[in-house]
Amino acid sequence: MSADSAAALFEATFGRAPDGVWSAPGRVNLIGEHTDYNAGLCLPIALPHRTYAAASPRDDRLLRLVSAQGDHVVELSLDDVAPGRPGGWAAYVAGVPWALERAGHRVRGLEVAIDGRVPLGAGLSSSAALECAVGAAASDLFGLGLLDAPSTRRALAAACIDAENTIARAPTGGMDQSAALLGTSLHALLLDCRDQHTEQVPFDLAAHDLALLVIDTRAEHALVDGQYAERRRSCEQAAQELGVPTLREVPPARLEERLATLSSDLLRRRARHIVTEIRRVEQAVEALRHDDFGRLGTLFLESHASMRDDFEISVAELDTAVEASVAAGALGARMTGGGFGGSAIALVPAARADRAQRRVAQAFSDRGFRAPDSFVVAASGAAQRER
Ligand code: GLA
Repeated sequence: MSADSAAALFEATFGRAPDGVWSAPGRVNLIGEHTDYNAGLCLPIALPHRTYAAASPRDDRLLRLVSAQGDHVVELSLDDVAPGRPGGWAAYVAGVPWALERAGHRVRGLEVAIDGRVPLGAGLSSSAALECAVGAAASDLFGLGLLDAPSTRRALAAACIDAENTIARAPTGGMDQSAALLGTSLHALLLDCRDQHTEQVPFDLAAHDLALLVIDTRAEHALVDGQYAERRRSCEQAAQELGVPTLREVPPARLEERLATLSSDLLRRRARHIVTEIRRVEQAVEALRHDDFGRLGTLFLESHASMRDDFEISVAELDTAVEASVAAGALGARMTGGGFGGSAIALVPAARADRAQRRVAQAFSDRGFRAPDSFVVAASGAAQRER
């Protein structure tokens, strides 16, 4: 149990038992990619993979942070937390009490020991899991009550997003933190990023003899590296040229006609992905409500093609994962997350999951790619206190 190992690391580092251990999950997004910062829709599930934070409050403003995945204790005052400081994994921890304070909550220093069991660099939101585990701990330890209800969980998600955007300086859109704080077991979370409205959509694949396979391509993936920010800027520019506050406001009807007014083909393709992807999320929810998994699979494939050709965020490993899983009998597959590496998901008949895994591994080896890591997941629960 990683709750045990986080607690043991806490005790070995700080010489006493922690006041408690909290955890938060990673996520995969079923569909709706790069739509969150366009005030659009997305449909993530929380993963069974979690990050654990053992923590105790301090009487002063010191933060003392250690991670089983890091190599030294990071110490700094809450007053010294600033954009880019501290760096590395500690930004995602220290940024959270900093952001809670900025949102008007009373916080103090903390001692925290982390054990992250969400694969790193796999596009499965290990950073949001880290922020939300620490956010859950801070909420309970400082009596903030932010885990009590969906509305307070949204407020905690907002603080975690602020930590990521401002302190870790990653210009991400907020889907990941919402999934980590609001996801529920056996449901996908329909998230409307225009007004933060959420809905739980039943997603119990095992009941339909289906499985969701996550294929971590292990291809390099980084969000802070310019490409993500560039996509975000293109979307903002397209919205501006179209005279709307966000691309959410562009109706899908007569889309090509509207896009024709944009100043470049590149902007046309970027905007087309966003508008059609938001529509696909609506259609995917419809399909799920009618147990129409064939349709869901088709939407996965359309979404992948749109990301590959219009938004241009796929890489050869992701395309290979999608093609090989379809060849092995998947109803559909798509890359998930920010892109440029990371993971793909495939919707497969449960009885064919092993075959799909083998087929994908073989296709990777044939093309000389690093061996992928694939596993079946079910939609799991949100951030919580473990003990
Ligand atoms: C990353 C970001 C999210 C979202 C996805 C793409 O995971 O953290 O906010 O934009 O990429 O859908």
